[in-house]
Amino acid sequence: MCWYSFGNRPVRHEQQPEEGVAILQQDLINQFAVRFQDVECALRRIRTCVRKTPVLDVVGYPDISVRGLWLKCENLQHGFAFKARGACNAVMSLSDAEAQRGVVTHSSGNHAAALARAAIQRGIPAYIVMPTNSARVKLEAVRRLGIEPLLCEPTSAAREQMASEVQRTTGAILIHPFNHPDVIAGQGTAALEILEQVPDLDTLIVPVGGGGLLSGTLIAVKTLRPDVQVIGAEPEWADDAFRSLQSGKIEPALRTDSVADGLRTPLGSLTFPIIRSLVDRILCASEEQILRATGELARHCRLITEPSGVVPLAVLQQHPEVFADRRVVVLISGGNLDDPGLITGSLSSGLQAD
Ligand SMILES: Cc1ncc(COP(=O)(O)O)c(C=O)c1O
Repeated sequence: MCWYSFGNRPVRHEQQPEEGVAILQQDLINQFAVRFQDVECALRRIRTCVRKTPVLDVVGYPDISVRGLWLKCENLQHGFAFKARGACNAVMSLSDAEAQRGVVTHSSGNHAAALARAAIQRGIPAYIVMPTNSARVKLEAVRRLGIEPLLCEPTSAAREQMASEVQRTTGAILIHPFNHPDVIAGQGTAALEILEQVPDLDTLIVPVGGGGLLSGTLIAVKTLRPDVQVIGAEPEWADDAFRSLQSGKIEPALRTDSVADGLRTPLGSLTFPIIRSLVDRILCASEEQILRATGELARHCRLITEPSGVVPLAVLQQHPEVFADRRVVVLISGGNLDDPGLITGSLSSGLQAD
């Protein structure tokens, strides 16, 4: 048994990894664009502008048989998604001279509003490029902050081209939604909180889109607790991370219509090497299972989540054999639900029955 120092509180670590193995793993982690120290610094930097979100312990969730189940509720984060963490860290890391130039991003999802909010907090301009097919709730979140999104065609090429054009004409600094070291480090801070809030977990399931959240999580967890299994969760209709690990190169998404709109993106040049080296497994959930999990979570835990945010729970339900006897933390990554119909049926039948 050993104790790791974590913030002001020591974290107990029952299964100490063999020393040689731990050192090799740490050498490996130190090669990446993001180091453990970056995640620790990010937590200190963003403490005043993001919430330490609650963890719910869940007992008797229907059809789930595990030794322990906890939900890390990033759907209750500012802006209702973990994205506040990476965006705040990136914006707060800019020097004054850089910050004056403003920031720009392209995003169809939660990073758009998260970056807008972080820029407003720092008092600098933000230019937000969003595809025309972005979820209404995500476009409105940016508008509510007083920023009109710059709309572009719904292709990666069109998004990147418009963001480059904005960079060229305004001098703004690009804060990529996932392929950016400060964004990855910021996203890893949720995992530091989890290790403190549930020290006796043995498995953590995290959704994967471009891989910023999963990469930051891996840097944090595999440094402090290499015995904890980290599993990436993605939809079967956006299984590019699963295929990328099989082929050894970044695979494109083959479809663009998964209900989990935040997870449709392929991995990036910074996130792929981290995930390939450190993740234990990527598992997929069907579209049907994701939709069902969204409704069930509203019914059984009274939590509003968006489909992207509930994919880790859907994976747990679809692969029960992998998690039997495990003490599992599921990261619920967002709550910006565009279609309330996904929860109203399940919720109203639940209210009558419960
Ligand atoms: C709710 C939600 N979960 C997960 C993700 C995936 O995050 P990443 O691109 O860092 O893998 C996103 C991305 O937009 C998201 O909005």
